[in-house]
Amino acid sequence: MRLVNINFVDEGSVLARPVRSANGRVLLGEGVSLNYNFLTKLKQLGYDMLFIRDDRFRDVEINYAVSDKTKEIAFNAIRSVTTAVDNNPDTSINADGVRYAVLNIMEDLLCSFDILSNLTDIMGYDEYTFHHSVNTTVLALVLAMGKGYTQTRLLELGMGVLMHDIGKTRVPKEILHKSSKLNEEDFEEIKKHSGFGYDFIRKNRDFSIHSAHVAFQHHEKWMGGGYPRGLKGTDIHEFGRITAVADVYDALISKRPYREAMEPYEAYEYILAQSGYQFDPEIVKIFTKHVAVYPTGTGVILSNGLRGNVIAQNASLPNRPIVRAIFEGNNLLEQYSDFDLSKQLNIMITKIENR
Ligand SMILES: [Fe+2]
Repeated sequence: MRLVNINFVDEGSVLARPVRSANGRVLLGEGVSLNYNFLTKLKQLGYDMLFIRDDRFRDVEINYAVSDKTKEIAFNAIRSVTTAVDNNPDTSINADGVRYAVLNIMEDLLCSFDILSNLTDIMGYDEYTFHHSVNTTVLALVLAMGKGYTQTRLLELGMGVLMHDIGKTRVPKEILHKSSKLNEEDFEEIKKHSGFGYDFIRKNRDFSIHSAHVAFQHHEKWMGGGYPRGLKGTDIHEFGRITAVADVYDALISKRPYREAMEPYEAYEYILAQSGYQFDPEIVKIFTKHVAVYPTGTGVILSNGLRGNVIAQNASLPNRPIVRAIFEGNNLLEQYSDFDLSKQLNIMITKIENR
């Protein structure tokens, strides 16, 4: 299978992975042949990439960081907490569901931790906040594993990250879902979610106070100037510094109704550029070792003029994957060829093109 931009998917192409709605329901199953109506509907729903069957990529496996089952568990944990506090702001968060979800994510990650390649499944516009919380947790845990955290600390961190934006339930919905530009007053309201989240989490003794600090400090910046307290450097809890990187990266690679998603390599550049400014340089260093610049499946053009898709990652070399070339310019090659960029150092990826 390979990843193709929906605008370049031909009618009659066959789905190599199911397309799921935000809550995990299968909209179109694997093996479905895509006709005009399906493609139009998927575009309307905001899906812009699809995994398409391609015999030349039959041996390529694209594994997500966590299984669909784990995602569903995490998704349900967040939804039940959100619904409960939405209905009654004085209720305390049920920690059991959150703990169970984080333990599942940790278990999945132990099998695939060296390089995080495909953080998120392809998705439309729906239920961004839930997805974002799960993805941010996955990435924060990968960074913490890179830092050598113990299981106990990973769990403390993960439980906080899964709940990091829970305070948004107390921000008026009309501000949260505003599609026009936010004014200063709106922004002041949104900023309050850190403190609200902190209060929610620490009210429940089943959460560690460190987990509560994830909600409180994930918008602080390494050089200062973040919110709510404008802390600097190591005055910011390490959990907060890790979550800041994970939170921003996932937000940048996600498509929103008011802006396109950044390509992963662009988001990667942004994180690097903010090292020592917005983010703790030490955490950014770990990020660069463990997050793939070109996720498996990505369409790329090589400096030798050939075009193809990333088929695998090289351990500890997140910017030098293995690429299978199938085109030269716009002409299909008779025989595909694989380029391992960790060995062929004279070849570069010059452009991303998913077609
Ligand atoms: Fe936040």
